[in-house]
This record gives sequence, structure tokens and C-alpha cells, in this order.
Amino acid sequence: MDRMEVTETFAGISLPGHLHTEESLRFASSFQFRDTDVVIVTYPKSGTTWMQEILTLIHSKGDLEPAKTIPNWARAPWLEHTYFKDMLQETSGPRLITTHLPCQVLAPALRKSKAKVIYMARNPKDVVVSFYHFHKMAKFLPDPGSFEDFLVRFLDGTVQYGSWFDHVKGWLSQRAELGLFYITYEEVHKELERSVERLADWLGCPLQPEEIRAIQQHCSFSSMRENAMVNYTLIPCEIMDHSQGRFMRKGTVPAPPHPLPPGSDGSKGPWLIPSDPCGRMEPARRP
Ligand code: A3P
Repeated sequence: MDRMEVTETFAGISLPGHLHTEESLRFASSFQFRDTDVVIVTYPKSGTTWMQEILTLIHSKGDLEPAKTIPNWARAPWLEHTYFKDMLQETSGPRLITTHLPCQVLAPALRKSKAKVIYMARNPKDVVVSFYHFHKMAKFLPDPGSFEDFLVRFLDGTVQYGSWFDHVKGWLSQRAELGLFYITYEEVHKELERSVERLADWLGCPLQPEEIRAIQQHCSFSSMRENAMVNYTLIPCEIMDHSQGRFMRKGTVPAPPHPLPPGSDGSKGPWLIPSDPCGRMEPARRP
């Protein structure tokens, strides 16, 4: 099947041209955030859709209706996409906004408001594998070639959306100034209930135990995999070739390469240490 490859370059980064234009990107970089906005920031394949689902349900207090009836790109639209203006909710309450843009593009606009920014990161080994498989199905991305070739481009930062390393470093360098809520895919995977609770408290939307349970159940991998509002099966085959795989592919966190000693910091994920403000990776320690 032919690819619809058109590339838009902005701030030195290539982006899929069917979703981004110079105008949509300029609009995004000078967007006037409201203090009540909640902004999800991720490098692609880091759990964006998962966070969109969790936040949708925190705002609805566990009511599944919006998550089951409105596609994620309409409930939490991407700021930089061409359709953003049409999707933005006309509400005086919190608006959920998603972005993959790098920090240097967005931080100036964010600093002008008290919008709440959540940065979700994922171990780059899993990001690159997930991104590779996504390229195979997403017709708006270049043919990834072999995994080895794709890995070289990922490490060079020449894939679409730019360097994972620069993205994480850039955003975490602004952690204090922007008051970021930093969370990793691995933490959410390990402790979904606790992550929901922490996010809800930080957003000032405390939840009842039964509401948290409903969110936890609905945001499980198996449940989200069946939800057409988030599993991208609504996207036509010319844009996403569903014969090449599923968007909700595996949703796993690999086991550490070596057993961790009892009482060591294995609870925080084997590679990406969540509290590390520079996003440096540290290898798991051998016993
Ligand atoms: P895999 O390809 O490793 O399975 P994004 O939304 O940023 O594009 O990220 C997509 C990745 O998040 C995919 O990873 C997808 O399976 C995973 N994901 C989405 N929802 C999830 C959930 N409820 N539990 C675990 N992983 C989830």
C-alpha cells in the first residue's frame, strides 16, 4: 500500500505533513494556554493514549461515557495538529490538550500561564520498538526499513518527531520552572491505581475508591485494546494499515536483565529512574 509521505519541518524536526502545517505549528507555539488547561506531553509511543484515557476518566470521575463514545483525538486533541482549533472544547472547565512538541517550542507559551503540564516518559528501548512497528502501519510515516536501520536513525535523532534524548532532556530541564508532573510509563504499568490516585490529587480532583477502581479497570491494556475510541481501528486503512499490526500492540515492560537484590530499587523500573531530573538512564545493578 502506498505511503502518503509528506514531511513538514519545524524547529529542526521532521513531522508528518498530513497532520502538521507551518500554520498549525506556528499556532501551537504561540497558543494562549488557560490556567485550567491540562497538557499531556510525550515523545511518541511513550503512553500518550494511556494518559489521555486516564485523565479523561479522572475528569469524569470514573464515568465511562466519554471514554466509550468520543475518540481520544477529540477529547484530548494534539495542539500541533491541523484539526486542533476545530476540536478544542468550548468549556470553561479544564481542557485536555496533548502534544509531542519539544520543550524549546512550547515552554515560552506555557510559562505565560499556570496550565498543568504532565510529562510522561518511557524507556527508549521500548519506545524504539513500538515506534518501529507503528511506522509499519502508519502510512503517513516513512517506511522504517530494517529495525537496525531504524534504530540508527532513532539514536541519531533523525526520525520523525526528532530525538527522544533531546525531548526528555529538554522537558525535564524545565521540570521545576513549569512545575511538571513527571511520570513514567513503567510506573503506571507497575502501579496503575497509585498513579491514578497521584494524578487525581495533583490535579485537585480527589476520587472515591470505587471511582479509582472503575478507572483502573477501564485503563487496563486488555480493556483499552477493545475500545474503538482509543485503539485507532476507526482510522481508515489508507492512513493506518491495520493488516500490519495493532496500535495497542503489547503494552509490556520487559523484566530487568538481571535479578535485582531484595530491597533494591527495582520498584522504580529497571532502566529509567523516575526521580532522576535529567532523565539519565542507569543500568540495573547486579546483585
Ligand atoms: P507497544 O507498542 O509497546 O504495545 P502512544 O499512545 O504514545 O502512541 O503509545 C503507544 C504504546 O502505549 C503502545 O505500546 C501501546 O500498546 C501502549 N499502551 C497504550 N495503552 C496501554 C495500556 N492501557 N497499558 C499498557 N500499555 C498501553
